[in-house]
Amino acid sequence: MRGFIPSLFAVSALASPVSLTSRAAKGIYFLLAGDSTTAPNGGWGDAFLSTTVASGSSGHNYGHGGATTASFRSGGDWAKVTNDIGTYKSTYDVYVTIQFGHNDQKANSGVTVEQFKANLLKFAQETTSAGGAPILLTPLTRRNFASSTSNVTENLVEQRSATIDVATNNNIKWIDLNLVSMNYVNTIKKDAASKYNLAANDWTHLNTWGGVVFSRIVSDLLVEKYGNIFTPATKANSTLSALIKAGKPA
Ligand SMILES: *[C@@H]1O[C@H](CO)[C@@H](O)[C@H](O)[C@H]1NC(C)=O
Ligand SMILES: *[C@@H]1O[C@H](CO)[C@@H](O)[C@H](O)[C@H]1NC(C)=O
Repeated sequence: MRGFIPSLFAVSALASPVSLTSRAAKGIYFLLAGDSTTAPNGGWGDAFLSTTVASGSSGHNYGHGGATTASFRSGGDWAKVTNDIGTYKSTYDVYVTIQFGHNDQKANSGVTVEQFKANLLKFAQETTSAGGAPILLTPLTRRNFASSTSNVTENLVEQRSATIDVATNNNIKWIDLNLVSMNYVNTIKKDAASKYNLAANDWTHLNTWGGVVFSRIVSDLLVEKYGNIFTPATKANSTLSALIKAGKPA
């Protein structure tokens, strides 16, 4: 994902500035900020980059297991994201997906809902000032089914609505991953949904195929809502998108 060498590009840009302005539309560099549900080995991020992003576009998955909106900053992950915006923005349009909530919501997280909102807004503002564009994602649903309803237990409600509030009040792009991922697993039901579990009883994290399916949901939402930006950077999988849209197990 990191084949591009900034220093070489800077030299050739100096030598022939015209080539910069006459380039075709830039590709997108996706920087993925989030917790374990985005991170490698359990999240949707790696599959997003490897199965939904078209050639000419690229990215890096900075998802971090256990991260809250506070620890993602204090632990240094956020600085890597903003640093990468600076590195890649001359070659690509840089978009930063920001998806948190699973850990922020825990009673001992030390992050209140108000702080969660302020932290999301600060990530978005700093993305913009670094030269990138933020996209807020409501948190991927957990897949714990309640026997009383045969649906998943909706336990990220506050984090979903907080994320939407921040986006709509501040004119930030956003997609409702929580709602769409929840509706999908509610429709395919528990047995089919269990096929995405990272381990038999892990109804939060995704195995490799789960990553492919839920990253396709992320990609489809981006294309549906902001197609002028994301369609050129997207490698479609119409078979998979159609299964998801029809509420059939993929
Ligand atoms: C289950 O979820 C689906 C889709 O999310 C919804 O339409 C349906 O009303 C829910 N059923 C119950 C019993 O809550
Ligand atoms: C595309 O979707 C089909 C059907 O779900 C699946 O078998 C295939 O692995 C997918 N390919 C990629 C690259 O995601």
